[in-house]
Amino acid sequence: MSAPPLIEFRDVVKQYGKGEAAIRALDGVSLSINEHDFVAIMGPSGSGKSTSMNIIGCLDTPTSGEYLFQGVPTSGFDNEHLTLLRRHMLGFVFQGFNLLSRTSAVENVELPLIYRGMKSAERRALAMEALAQVGLKGRENHTTQELSGGQQQRVAIARAIVTKPALLLADEPTGNLDTKTSIEIMDLITSLNRDRGITVVMVTHEEDIAAHAKRLLRFVDGRLGSDSAVEHGMEATDVL
Ligand SMILES: Nc1ncnc2c1ncn2[C@@H]1O[C@H](COP(=O)(O)OP(=O)(O)OP(=O)(O)O)[C@@H](O)[C@H]1O
Ligand SMILES: [Mg+2]
Repeated sequence: MSAPPLIEFRDVVKQYGKGEAAIRALDGVSLSINEHDFVAIMGPSGSGKSTSMNIIGCLDTPTSGEYLFQGVPTSGFDNEHLTLLRRHMLGFVFQGFNLLSRTSAVENVELPLIYRGMKSAERRALAMEALAQVGLKGRENHTTQELSGGQQQRVAIARAIVTKPALLLADEPTGNLDTKTSIEIMDLITSLNRDRGITVVMVTHEEDIAAHAKRLLRFVDGRLGSDSAVEHGMEATDVL
């Protein structure tokens, strides 16, 4: 039997508010993403991209429909199970970096390992290794505020991968960066997918950034507008 998809949405609806003021952020989305895939999500502002990421990351739950992780419906998970899933399977990189500014790079990267209760020597070794992987060897003791935007985003990526997640979730990972730095960050994310097999789901507003992915999902008004393969930066569109 083949493995179930890593991620599956079955007719997922997310509604905020009630009655006339209700907003359907997601209006019946079905999709599946296999392990080792690299998916870019695009769409206009308010189309449901971040809402989808929050559900995939188990930070929010569908109003109706089902979200399955590795073939298991997440609606059956209690809070403890959801926390374990987030800590052990998922890595998050968001636009605002969310790093502690007066804290060193290595301490920022160690944080998710502290939540796991790992001993300090082991933690330090893994954080140093993750920082080396993102090209920040020698900068481990710099505080966040002493690093450039691109270096800060590398720290955020190191923090996301230090737990060796199956899935990396990136919501506009290059949103605050200049073009050259954006390309470097995308090369890094691409190599994490290609060489380490990490499944990547990334939201972006830029076609050039999305072109790094293997697959492109376009959201329109809380629905999936298209799902297409990305071939050498070109789209073979399969409009739904
Ligand atoms: N916590 C919330 N309460 C109420 N409405 C919300 C909430 N979060 C999102 N929404 C609404 O849901 C819709 C989808 O929002 P979402 O953040 O998913 O959009 P997005 O595609 O990520 O947009 P952007 O490109 O601007 O980041 C929007 O209309 C938004 O106003
Ligand atoms: Mg968003």
